[in-house]
Amino acid sequence: MNNRAHPILCPTRFYPLLLIVGLFLMITTLFIQDRNASQKLSQSTSEVEIVEPFDTKIPRGELNLKEFNVKTHKGFVSMDELNENVFKKFGYEIIRPTFPVPTVRMLKEPTCDEVFSEWKRISEEPQPEFPPKQIPADRLNEFLLNNYTALGRWYINDKNSAQGEKPRNWDKLSEMVKWPRAKLGGLAYGTDGVSMYDAMKYHRLDGMSGFVVGSMQPWVEVSALVHGASKILTVEYNKLTIQEEFRDRMSSILPIDFVKDWKKYAGTFDFAASFSSIEHSGLGRYGDPIDPIGDFREVLKIRCMLKPGGLLFLGFPLGTDALQYNAHRIYGSIRLAMMFYGFEWLNTFSGHSENPHDLTSERLHSKKVFGMFQNTIVLKKL
Ligand SMILES: *[C@@H]1O[C@H](CO)[C@@H](O)[C@H](O)[C@H]1NC(C)=O
Repeated sequence: MNNRAHPILCPTRFYPLLLIVGLFLMITTLFIQDRNASQKLSQSTSEVEIVEPFDTKIPRGELNLKEFNVKTHKGFVSMDELNENVFKKFGYEIIRPTFPVPTVRMLKEPTCDEVFSEWKRISEEPQPEFPPKQIPADRLNEFLLNNYTALGRWYINDKNSAQGEKPRNWDKLSEMVKWPRAKLGGLAYGTDGVSMYDAMKYHRLDGMSGFVVGSMQPWVEVSALVHGASKILTVEYNKLTIQEEFRDRMSSILPIDFVKDWKKYAGTFDFAASFSSIEHSGLGRYGDPIDPIGDFREVLKIRCMLKPGGLLFLGFPLGTDALQYNAHRIYGSIRLAMMFYGFEWLNTFSGHSENPHDLTSERLHSKKVFGMFQNTIVLKKL
């Protein structure tokens, strides 16, 4: 800089030295004065999906959540706004501004004892004869996460309607274990369901023991069996009659008995799986109690039953955060963050390829609000 500013005053032979000294001063000044600014800049302009966690390089106060936006039905909303209006209000807090799902922690994690006793208390409350047609007004904010979740209407009565689905194919297990990928994985949900088969092929389950939540047909169980699982317990409201020659490997239990005996099962399973089930929990559609966080309760229960490092294969509707009451929830950046608490997100399968795919923001929000697709997400218990 100096040599450029006063070229005539400098003898020619000093030019290289001045250049080196000048550059050194420039770099040092920039480094010292703008260290904070450049750290911030590298955060806001970086295209990486994951930035350093708060607790390592970046002091908490320096990370500005206002600089990170995620998509909601209201358009793009900053992580700072979500942190204040949603996460903190419902007992969470962002610890890392990851995309497309911020990483949150629970401010006060319930113990397994609390998780199961609360679930039991709620499940014993008297329920109306028909699934409620409207969300109780005093629970709207909880169901809609302070209106950051879109609300649509789609009423289904699967409690006392004659068309309600009943368990099928539990007597055909010896045939099903021979079915190829697309036939077995696609039995109940087409390509979306194949994602479960692919996820279990990728994370093989040799010699492992696991449980499956919510099963009308045993395609998730058989997918686990053909990928090595040695023991599978199905947790299902309907009583199941399992084909005799499979009873050494497969059994079933009613949810209420699983919860009553939770201490016997806690921390004992290598894996758990559930496809297209938890998004219904708490909406009353199946006669279950109205509970704005029925889905989170299910995941917390599952987490208690897993060994540390245990895997959870979870398939459910993805899109932009929405609730089509009482049909199902659709999970976007906000609700996914809360659901993933206590787990590491390993990967995501779509059913279109045997390999995992990168669930980017673009993919997650590729459909209009209320549009959705089901993928199998593999989580690891922390
Ligand atoms: C959400 O919207 C409803 C209806 O428009 C309104 O009554 C309620 O106060 C809103 N909630 C919040 C937290 O703003």
